[in-house]
Amino acid sequence: NCHLAISRGSLIVLEGLDRSGKSSQCSRLVSYLQEKGIPVEACRFPDRSTSVGQMISTYLANESELDDRTIHLLFSANRWEKRSLMETKLKNGISLIVDRYSYSGVAFSASKGLNIEWCKAPEEGLIAPDLVIYLEIAPEKAAERDGYGCERYEQLEFQRKVAQNYNLLRDSTWKVIDGCLSLETIESQVREQALECVSVCKKGKPLLNMWL
Ligand code: TMP
Ligand code: MG
Repeated sequence: NCHLAISRGSLIVLEGLDRSGKSSQCSRLVSYLQEKGIPVEACRFPDRSTSVGQMISTYLANESELDDRTIHLLFSANRWEKRSLMETKLKNGISLIVDRYSYSGVAFSASKGLNIEWCKAPEEGLIAPDLVIYLEIAPEKAAERDGYGCERYEQLEFQRKVAQNYNLLRDSTWKVIDGCLSLETIESQVREQALECVSVCKKGKPLLNMWL
């Protein structure tokens, strides 16, 4: 029988403090992979386009108040509402470049004093990334960048705690890149990691669930 298996896409996540440069690197990476003919799509969390996402966006703009656990679970729900679509795309061979994921969910909420295991629990069962690229930047450096301070969590003291919590979450899927290098240098390191990841997934690396 003639069975043509489609090789699956990769789930590649970019993480880092606010203003670490994730969003620019995500869009550069998507264009690069597209040019190479690799099926790829961008996504980001929070995904502010859904009704859950709108509640999150209002909260981040300081236009509403929510209990710390409530907003934590909304961020998680915002990933859950995309889970099956993400799985379908990955299984259809489309790689996903994701701006923030569960690591943001845990690192930010834990910085408010919530228990880290409690924060991880609702993420269990989401698709595990194949690669996490962490753009490392000193919180003081990020604070000097344009636009800093616009949203709720963009406060130096808070971002220092977030950086510490990110450190607790590092695992074998993480590649840390110095976020103070030039855009072009970071871009080429991101490309190298992403290409390697795409080829490993193509060869049949299984799709796994969080939390790893
Ligand atoms: P953004 O600037 O990437 O749109 O993210 C908005 C803020 O939301 C940012 O400060 C990080 C924070 N965040 C969480 O607290 N939990 C989450 O699960 C995610 C995805 C983001
Ligand atoms: Mg932001």
